[in-house]
Amino acid sequence: QLDYTGMMRSEKNPKAISEKDLCSFQPQMHIARVALLQKRAQGELDFSALLLEMKGQAQQIQEYADYLSEHYENFVLLGIGGSALGPQAVHQALRPYYYNELSSEKRNHRPRFYVVDNIDPTRFKDLLESLNLEKTMFNVISKSGNTSETMAQFLIVRQMLKEVCKDQFNEHIVVTTDQEKGNLVTLSENEGYRRFVIPSGIGGRFSELTPVGLLPAAVCGINIFELLDGAIAMDKKIREQKDLFENPAQLRAALGCFSLKRGKAISVFMPYADGLKTMADWYAQLWAESLGKRYDRQEQEIWTGQTPIKALGVTDQHSQVQLYTEGPNDKIFTFVTVRIFDEEILIPKDDDLEQNIQFLGGHQLGDLLRAEHKATEYALSLAGRLHQNIILPELNAYTVGQLLLLLEWETAYMGELLNINAFDQPGVEEGKIGTYALMGRPGYEQRRSEIEESICK
Ligand code: PA5
Repeated sequence: QLDYTGMMRSEKNPKAISEKDLCSFQPQMHIARVALLQKRAQGELDFSALLLEMKGQAQQIQEYADYLSEHYENFVLLGIGGSALGPQAVHQALRPYYYNELSSEKRNHRPRFYVVDNIDPTRFKDLLESLNLEKTMFNVISKSGNTSETMAQFLIVRQMLKEVCKDQFNEHIVVTTDQEKGNLVTLSENEGYRRFVIPSGIGGRFSELTPVGLLPAAVCGINIFELLDGAIAMDKKIREQKDLFENPAQLRAALGCFSLKRGKAISVFMPYADGLKTMADWYAQLWAESLGKRYDRQEQEIWTGQTPIKALGVTDQHSQVQLYTEGPNDKIFTFVTVRIFDEEILIPKDDDLEQNIQFLGGHQLGDLLRAEHKATEYALSLAGRLHQNIILPELNAYTVGQLLLLLEWETAYMGELLNINAFDQPGVEEGKIGTYALMGRPGYEQRRSEIEESICK
């Protein structure tokens, strides 16, 4: 459910969007919808177009995941950006928060799960030293097969596996990469790694519902069929629903676009559920990398985008909300709430205590969380801040699948409304090239001199 009343015009917010404004978006939205559906038909929106194909592959992924569970105690994902955030977000949403600390029995004999999405040598070494490599499977995920961070991790792990597992080292590496391009294709062919394919038309940050996310999820016992069903249902709704008020992606994009054009340069994504904490990281990448663009489609300089901020309710009420209520009015807020938590804990009542602590007793902890969310909404309303709620009935594979597709489609719509390409990332590529140059990759000598010269200056 989407509750967007906090985004609408009110006494406190006379300049906010009105129903009339939203209605006036309909023709523009219609054009965006036609354009996006056309792109989808032409193979440019494969995060949506290939969902059924992914469902078709799910059984094979599940079988391999079940095999891994029987043979390995640890499953380590090596990847970065779109090749790591989705799997992390879904794992945190759908597995117990302290999953790795549970006994094997409580994990249903599924492997422990680690994601190494950085190259801090201390952290990497700490992890590698804590693992029994003979019982560990490494999933190297890189669409390009060229990303220096992931390739460096891979080379380190490959060497260690060769030393420990000798001829069987290749049985500890599974690769998820492009069909044809990149180092990982050649290496898996030469060295015999099991390989899963990321469809070429799906970019990193849109790839969670491909083997990138499906394999790690299945390994840890997440129901990938339900995840995909939720995604497919949301995808269908968004594709088929023409009316902006009934189409959640269109509605959120219209609100986002309207607010951006009126100076709300920041979008705060604040789930009120610890399970969705990393979903905020995933959203931040999706929003930042897709919409932060210098040029529009006609190559005009526009320097557009909306800065995503990840926050967590209620934790960040005690760190960021002061700024949100009294700082610059340049933000919109999305709260993601869960109506029914898996667990509830009753706060014990003790009549002997003072009234000012006793009042908490007899309530569920979830009630306190919901009250905190309402109180924050109220404080933001008083300060005239624009906010909306995405409400999940509960946190399960189906609703998480729905949420992923909603946010992906919303981003695609925003790209269309802003007249930019939401699916490339030239700014990221620039940094990747700079790294190749500085690390001595052949062919990048000229760039190296340019960087060194510019740094010296
Ligand atoms: O969304 C994207 O395309 C990026 O964030 C990539 O996922 C990230 O740069 C990693 O790239 P790769 O999967 O090619 O290693």
